[in-house]
Amino acid sequence: MRNFLRFNGIAVVLTLFLCIGQSAYGDTGYELWLNYKPVTDQKLLQSYMDYCKNIHFADSRYDKAIRDELDIALDKMLGVSVVEADKGEASIRMKIVRQKKLGQEGYHISSRDGRLTIEANGDAGLLYGTYHLIRLMQCGESLDDVDITEVPKIDFRDLNHWDNLSGSIERGYAGRSLWKWDELPDKIDPRYRDYARANASIGINGTVLNNVNASSKMLDREYLEKVAALADIFREYNIKVYLSANFAAPMKMSSTPNDAKRGGGVGQLDTADPMDPEVQQWWKDKADEIYELIPDFGGFLVKANSEGMPGPQDYKRTHADGANMLAKALKPHGGIVMWRTFVYNDTSVDPDRVKRAYKEFKPFDGQFDDNVILQTKNGPLDFHPSEPVLPIFGGMEHTPLQPELQITQEYLGQSTYLVYLVPMWRKFFDFDTWCKGEGSTVAKIAEGKVFKQKFTAIAGVANTGDDENWTRHHFAQANWYAFGRLAWDPMTDTEQITREWIKSTWTTDSAAVKVIEEMMMPTWECFVASQSPYGLGFTTRPQDHYTAGFKSRVNKEWKVNATGIGSDRTTAGTDYVSQYLEPNRSIFNNIDSCPEYLLLTFHFAPWDHVMKSGATLRSAFFDGLKKTMQVNARNRELWSRVKSAIDPERYEDVIERLDKEARDARKFYEEADSFFREASK
Ligand code: GCU
Repeated sequence: MRNFLRFNGIAVVLTLFLCIGQSAYGDTGYELWLNYKPVTDQKLLQSYMDYCKNIHFADSRYDKAIRDELDIALDKMLGVSVVEADKGEASIRMKIVRQKKLGQEGYHISSRDGRLTIEANGDAGLLYGTYHLIRLMQCGESLDDVDITEVPKIDFRDLNHWDNLSGSIERGYAGRSLWKWDELPDKIDPRYRDYARANASIGINGTVLNNVNASSKMLDREYLEKVAALADIFREYNIKVYLSANFAAPMKMSSTPNDAKRGGGVGQLDTADPMDPEVQQWWKDKADEIYELIPDFGGFLVKANSEGMPGPQDYKRTHADGANMLAKALKPHGGIVMWRTFVYNDTSVDPDRVKRAYKEFKPFDGQFDDNVILQTKNGPLDFHPSEPVLPIFGGMEHTPLQPELQITQEYLGQSTYLVYLVPMWRKFFDFDTWCKGEGSTVAKIAEGKVFKQKFTAIAGVANTGDDENWTRHHFAQANWYAFGRLAWDPMTDTEQITREWIKSTWTTDSAAVKVIEEMMMPTWECFVASQSPYGLGFTTRPQDHYTAGFKSRVNKEWKVNATGIGSDRTTAGTDYVSQYLEPNRSIFNNIDSCPEYLLLTFHFAPWDHVMKSGATLRSAFFDGLKKTMQVNARNRELWSRVKSAIDPERYEDVIERLDKEARDARKFYEEADSFFREASK
């Protein structure tokens, strides 16, 4: 007994030494949430070691990925290696079972009498089940008597990279592109595999590698071979590769200045008219060529007739004509077209920009081929801090819709501000469109539960770059993580996601977990109050979408004067409200029932309008402008409280970010306060 105690004592000291040692030698953030820390709770450690004594693999397509991950995780967390065993003896058994309800990616984890089983109907389920098991251990959960069934609610869960072939990233704030095009396909950066591991661990199963403002060159043979090399790695983690396609790619000359800038056409034709048989053939041949190199290629993402990109309207054809032509080329191979609804340039459609996308697409509802999905941003404007849900959700009944969320914080403080996006995404998913009566939420539409559709999909515009920690701000990793978890199941509990991320990224110390959660939760609401209060819209400079730019936005995007502030989009104004179904239309139309977070999107509200708190809009508005500074100061203090639980390197990095945020937030505040005081007299 004494010997045992002594041995255990040494083990604890050793473990602690290892922990401290690890911190001292630097935790850069590279590991993301796959930051496997030694388990220090001796009881849990013993129990995990018992469960992980030996493993029976199921001979699945993902065995190598599963084994590699367990090798790293068990070694770092428990100090043991993977030992294989026969089915009958193994303490962890992986099993393929015929259970249709688990689909191709779902899994069931159960344990009894000290043995644990991961069952799946499709091979990928074992991969996801393994990551779930590891997460349970990272979060310090007991493995006794578990009974967990998970099936993804959305089929295609994609990241969209706005990465250019030059290596720059549109709206990227964490360095250069992860894809080293000049080195590929010969040199494979080990980081590609780590990227795939991170994504697989949160259920992401697709990646669009290049910017929606796509260069035609991306479809060149030379580049397709590079793409194929990436696809070979990602495939091992159940991740499909997709490409953004330039609609004018079949042309030998670029058709727009934008395309010319990006390298011009790759084809031989003089037109990209989707009704031209030669153009149709060109795309069929291109699809054949791609699938020959990448047999499981996912399909195309297309930004057409938007912000200078070419599209079918250049030939007096419709969005449906364009999308269906591409869909026909991909169909024999099982590929899909993700056609974006982010269009607003044609002012003749409607003087109010927010109304244009709905008006352009609604007439084509039901006219798209069954392998087309309309990829639609959450709001009608453009990834602003606070927007209503774009009424295409609920407005189109015969066309599948793919929500597009932005993980990169283009209008949300980029990689300087700590802004946790889950509260915003929660509002989006919970919004009731009423399209099939009460309860027709965006989450249900995204899950394909409201309308009949063949497949479902969701996209998040990535915030990754080649910075050591991937996202520059360590806390921005949380938004990537949370996107994946919500893409798997949009109804996943916010608190659960947040705590999982904190525990697997930072620490399992329960006091520290609480403090970090407290830091994250109010950040979005504060940011909105300070930078785009009550859904006001554009407030930043067009050049950077970051610094205060009120002068260039006022009277274009919204109005302000001594009487009030906002935009009148009621039935008496631009009538945007009428794109919503009842009762939303009436709720938004009436200033007293309009939700306050959207007050200035729908109303030109008088300064003396009384808010729910009893305060006037004027005082709430001006008080709100200070909120980011206040939360920042509070976060600086909260962060100092967790110092002992955090490795010094990342601790200091976060301080540096918080300090920069403090400076920039003050500057923004001063400009906002002075501008609105002057404007409101
Ligand atoms: C925003 C963003 C652009 C991007 C566009 C899009 O306007 O600022 O950089 O290209 O959205 O989503 O297509």
